[in-house]
Amino acid sequence: MVAGGTTMTWTTMTEPSHAAAKAPTVRAGLEGVVAAATRLSEVDGAAGRLTIAGFPVEELAPHASFEETVHLLWHDRLPGADELAQLRDELARHRALPPAVLDLLQAAAADRVGPMDALRMAVGALDLGLSPAERSDPDRLALRLIAAVPAAVAAHHRLTRGLEPVPPDPALGHVADYLRQITGEAPPADRARGLETYLSTVADHGFNASTFAARVVVSTGSDLVSAVTAAIGALKGPLHGGAPGPALETVFEIGVAERAEEVLAAKLDRGERLMGFGHRVYRVRDPRADVLAAAAERLFTAGSGDRELYELARAVEATALRLLRERKPDRRLETNVEFYTALLLHGLELPVELFTPTFAVGRVAGWTAHAREQAAEGRLIRPLSEYAGARGRRWVPVEER
Ligand code: ACO
Repeated sequence: MVAGGTTMTWTTMTEPSHAAAKAPTVRAGLEGVVAAATRLSEVDGAAGRLTIAGFPVEELAPHASFEETVHLLWHDRLPGADELAQLRDELARHRALPPAVLDLLQAAAADRVGPMDALRMAVGALDLGLSPAERSDPDRLALRLIAAVPAAVAAHHRLTRGLEPVPPDPALGHVADYLRQITGEAPPADRARGLETYLSTVADHGFNASTFAARVVVSTGSDLVSAVTAAIGALKGPLHGGAPGPALETVFEIGVAERAEEVLAAKLDRGERLMGFGHRVYRVRDPRADVLAAAAERLFTAGSGDRELYELARAVEATALRLLRERKPDRRLETNVEFYTALLLHGLELPVELFTPTFAVGRVAGWTAHAREQAAEGRLIRPLSEYAGARGRRWVPVEER
């Protein structure tokens, strides 16, 4: 609709344009555009390397607790023992959700709102219950966001199943308490370790779409809650954080390795994308896939682990890579982070609907760190567009159209 209630049709919007005759200057999807300098992470797409605040991801993720990764991103160094204890304590104290947010999640569950939409609603209200001074303190908001995102995910998950939310236990670490708030029981050490590795692996990744969205919001002088709410909206899409669920469903649909070729080829014949493969920046294998594959292997091959599923996933991956090479010889499509995210999170007994929200539990560390960096830079992000519409129209009264 345009002013005055007139409907503008798509036909009138696509008349030939003078702009179309100009030399194209648009970089669709901003591909290859460097929009800022950051000390937080470097994605080397040609070499397949990810550096997070100085650490190769394969060095950081298997060792760091999530709190250590948060400190590293915020302060550019690992915390000492006292600093770590203090951050653990501060995050634990910010975990409890404001009652109004719990009510909101209850309403979202009753309305069968999906977990990412429920998280977006809850995060948008996370500054409730704070004083005006606290609301304008970005450090305070950052603690609350990192601490409360997992609490909101877990509470909504339980409410959708008719279960009461489990109140946080400040004696537990961030990751163990996230799993406990989902299941009601403190997790075994290997499961908590598996999730620590996942969360640190995905905590930051250059100028991905959700991080960029957060930085755009902060660059206008807006607040951190608004920035993280926007980031969650961007993360939800299947081309960004929404891929691991479908990736796992494909593995289950295939069922046995012998069917991989038939099922995957049929998907490609229908023009579908294979979820968990391809990346805008990596032209070789995503290094996060190896870190998560190793963590998944540890989990699946230990004791009661489902080794068969792990072997099936490896066979599906090999077939997918071969088919993608055959079908798209000009485009190197390799395994991305989402394929092994799916396998690892399934091994941690997280249900599929929690995969993307759990990505948010990790990436919120990066969003808050980027927000700090962007605020310090203080430069409005405001690119240009090339006009491709009609020109020189003359107004026609509505009764003459
Ligand atoms: N399966 C099949 N074909 C693919 C795939 C795939 N997974 N990925 C890209 N292609 C094809 C495209 O169809 C296109 O073919 P065409 O040139 O014949 O039209 C070609 O490869 C290039 O694709 P682009 O769209 O230019 O690739 P882009 O860099 O924009 O996309 C993306 C990257 C979105 C990740 C894409 O590879 C994809 O959709 N993958 C599946 C979804 C997925 O796994 N997402 C998670 C990404 S990781 C993350 O965000 C955390």
